[in-house]
Amino acid sequence: MTDNSLFTPARLGGLSLGNRLAVAPMTRVSAGTEGLLTPQMLDYYHSFAEGGFGLIITEGLYTDRVYSQGYQGQPGLTCQAQAESWKPLNQALHAAGARSIAQLMHAGALSQFNGFNSDTAGPSAVKPKGQQMGFYDGEGGYATPKAMTQSDIDVAIVGFAQAAQRAQAAGFDGVEIHGANGYLLDQFLSAGSNERTDGYGGTPQNRVRLILEVIAAVRAATGADFVIGVRISQKKVNDDQHLWPEGEAAAAAIFTAIGQAGTDYIHTTEPGAEQAAFEGTASLASLAARYSGLPVIANGGVGQAAQAQHLLDEHQVTLVALGKAALANPDWVLRARSGTALREFEFAMLAPRADLDNAQRYFAEHASAASA
Ligand SMILES: Cc1cc2nc3c(=O)[nH]c(=O)nc-3n(C[C@H](O)[C@H](O)[C@H](O)COP(=O)(O)O)c2cc1C
Repeated sequence: MTDNSLFTPARLGGLSLGNRLAVAPMTRVSAGTEGLLTPQMLDYYHSFAEGGFGLIITEGLYTDRVYSQGYQGQPGLTCQAQAESWKPLNQALHAAGARSIAQLMHAGALSQFNGFNSDTAGPSAVKPKGQQMGFYDGEGGYATPKAMTQSDIDVAIVGFAQAAQRAQAAGFDGVEIHGANGYLLDQFLSAGSNERTDGYGGTPQNRVRLILEVIAAVRAATGADFVIGVRISQKKVNDDQHLWPEGEAAAAAIFTAIGQAGTDYIHTTEPGAEQAAFEGTASLASLAARYSGLPVIANGGVGQAAQAQHLLDEHQVTLVALGKAALANPDWVLRARSGTALREFEFAMLAPRADLDNAQRYFAEHASAASA
């Protein structure tokens, strides 16, 4: 085992972590209409802490009551009641030795349901590619969004900042600004969805501007010591082929700017965390580490401990986040440490709706496999 081993302590900003394994953010549409954490969700998140994960990143929490909500049953951080609902979970996670980060998400043009607004908004009035996600109650194509005005943008920034403050008051150890996977901030980052001719459009330096403004507002709202991360990807839930048109030059501009913006980490996600970001280049995770100088959490397609360890050893990353492998094995860390066989992820765990009722039903029906 090296000093950089999966099971050794790590730091993200001022935060000490027991090991280098994080649960990736995963939307489970189980919060009900009020957007509150439920006892079922508490048990779900707590099982990852009991299973040994050092860091748990929540599903994307919507940040305002204007355009940010993406899904029916998505939890939010837009009022005191929503924030308060997370307090018992944070206490339970801390008691189990884990740390918690709230992911702050504005769905923008990819919103499939919004209890506060029937319109969608994005950087430009461009109909998103692809189809809505069926396992989150979506059907057919996406609506063409309203192009956001400067005052819409200002409202979105304030939403992130206030949600971060509520997360801090609710006992989270940090927040992760969701700049990945095709949601609002990634819509600004991506040339295809961003046709703006103002300071938010055009070059990668302009396209990343909104992310930098959100980071600054979140930092101002939460103080110097609160952990702030940013999640970045090239691929999107509605476009699994997307690459930044400027290639590595875009990665250099985006990660350098984020590195100087007052964040504590970058979380990269690609379908395969070790794949070259562009033909012949390093992985997105490596590029993020190189250009930002920040700790990087790498995510995407990691199932086995050896793969995770390889990311630490060869891709300059500090932590590895597991999504589907953690769903199949909430006790992945305990299993990996002891060499116990891992359960395979099955999409049936998320069917027909990706909520916790269906997951519970799946695991009840496959109880014998679970104990195998
Ligand atoms: C059911 C489900 C829900 C997801 N929800 C989110 C989310 O809320 N925020 C986010 O950034 N990524 C989300 N993701 C993406 C995961 O965090 C992760 O990037 C993806 O599953 C690839 O990693 P994996 O191969 O380890 O699963 C979701 C993935 C799944 C399977």
